[in-house]
Amino acid sequence: MPDATRATVIVNVDIPGPVISRHLYGHFAEHLGRCIYGGFWVGEDSPIPNEGGIRLDVVEALRELEIPNLRWPGGCFADEYHWRDGIGPREDRPRMVNTHWGDVEENNHFGSHEFMALCELLGTAPYVSGNVGSGTVREMSEWVEYLTRPGTSPMADLRRANGRDEPWRVPFWGIGNEPWGCGGRMRAEAYADLARQYATFCRNHGDNTLTRIAAGAADDDYAWTEALMRAVDAPGPSNALPFEAISVHYYTFGGTWEAKGSATQFGDDEYWRTVVAAQAIEPILRRHVAVMDRYDPERKVGLVLDEWGTWWDVEPGTNPGFLYQQNTMRDAIVASLHFDTFHRLADRLTMANIAQTVNVLQAMVLTDEETGALVRTPTFHVFEMNKVHHDATSVPVHVRAPQAQHDVAGTSVPTLSATASVTEGRCHVSLTNADLEHPVEVDLDLRGVSPQDVSARVLAPSSVRSFNSAADPDQVSPRPLEVVETSTGVRFTLPAHSFAVVEIR
Ligand code: AHR
Repeated sequence: MPDATRATVIVNVDIPGPVISRHLYGHFAEHLGRCIYGGFWVGEDSPIPNEGGIRLDVVEALRELEIPNLRWPGGCFADEYHWRDGIGPREDRPRMVNTHWGDVEENNHFGSHEFMALCELLGTAPYVSGNVGSGTVREMSEWVEYLTRPGTSPMADLRRANGRDEPWRVPFWGIGNEPWGCGGRMRAEAYADLARQYATFCRNHGDNTLTRIAAGAADDDYAWTEALMRAVDAPGPSNALPFEAISVHYYTFGGTWEAKGSATQFGDDEYWRTVVAAQAIEPILRRHVAVMDRYDPERKVGLVLDEWGTWWDVEPGTNPGFLYQQNTMRDAIVASLHFDTFHRLADRLTMANIAQTVNVLQAMVLTDEETGALVRTPTFHVFEMNKVHHDATSVPVHVRAPQAQHDVAGTSVPTLSATASVTEGRCHVSLTNADLEHPVEVDLDLRGVSPQDVSARVLAPSSVRSFNSAADPDQVSPRPLEVVETSTGVRFTLPAHSFAVVEIR
């Protein structure tokens, strides 16, 4: 085995930083491939155990993650979705073509009531993306009324006629999606004006308060963010914000948009390019934050990364429009590196949504089309292990690891990443060793606390290419990690390509 690298990780347990919103661990479910149909929804007549058509094994698995919010119905699909097609008796609902994803027929059997029932089963907050690209202001306004208005009103009465008396709570509302692309190919200023207009008619009914999220930039399009922030800054009839948050999307891959590479069969070079791409999220988000700070120094407007994750070539033999991909330890490392960034930016980054929860892109669970078997992915385990950070207070971490570097095309890339938080008398430290060969011997130096009890779990399969399948569902799964006490904290060894969470009581 190659020699272990030495590292010291200093955690200032007694210096509280911003709270890490649980909404940074949010999810995304689009009408795309087998995410909704076959993933969440099997219909009431399915032999697969379900409640009102919703798959119970998927719900049970996701409950382990305590997912805080779920974005729906897209993505690109949101801008061709007309919500009235998805209410009322299922057999009467109009059909449509899902032109973005596989050009397949959509029967609208999973609509507003089914989505809200899913959120209730998951115990999660709905994040609904409204249609700007091909919908009207009235349509969006009435959808908000339908879902959230108590008492008697045209839309509340329609909801009641469809079997739901009480309004639902909808805390998050998206004003379109990717308007620069699939959402309407708009220019930034044109969309910024539309966002102000549509958001105006997304009302707070009863005691429901919406966080309205204007659709934001792709990657490093800081000009888009600037246009949205100028729209926030523009004088209006009151001091009220035109919308409460703006979004950004960022996907990670080791190749190019045209050839993203295989999810499971990748070379070391491709792995390192993926790590570099995952780490690039932090400077990109920081520059978006810098633009926002110029217009909104008090940080009233939130930044929402409502699509992130890995995007590989689809699994051979699957529909190219369905974006079905396997998920290895490389994906888990991409996720844990993202979470470290999210924790560090928690004072402006208020929400993030991985794309997507089931059977699409960097999924938590994969279901087999023929057997129905469900598999928890390596990424699932990162979300599960890191849920200790939900709504916890971040604390500063300093990584001293001069040897923990890897040369990627002449640039030195840090291979050890760590963040920490405190909650209810416990401190949790998450650590990622991205190195492919070298374990890291970590001295965790805990400042401001005398540990009484320390335990740790690690995700460390034999290969970074390891993945879980129906035949071998636990190839990548957490196990206890041995830690020894030292005079300043604890010491342990992080295996190569691993992720660990240490709990200090
Ligand atoms: O997540 C898949 C797609 O990626 C979404 O529909 C779209 O918003 C983005 O381009």
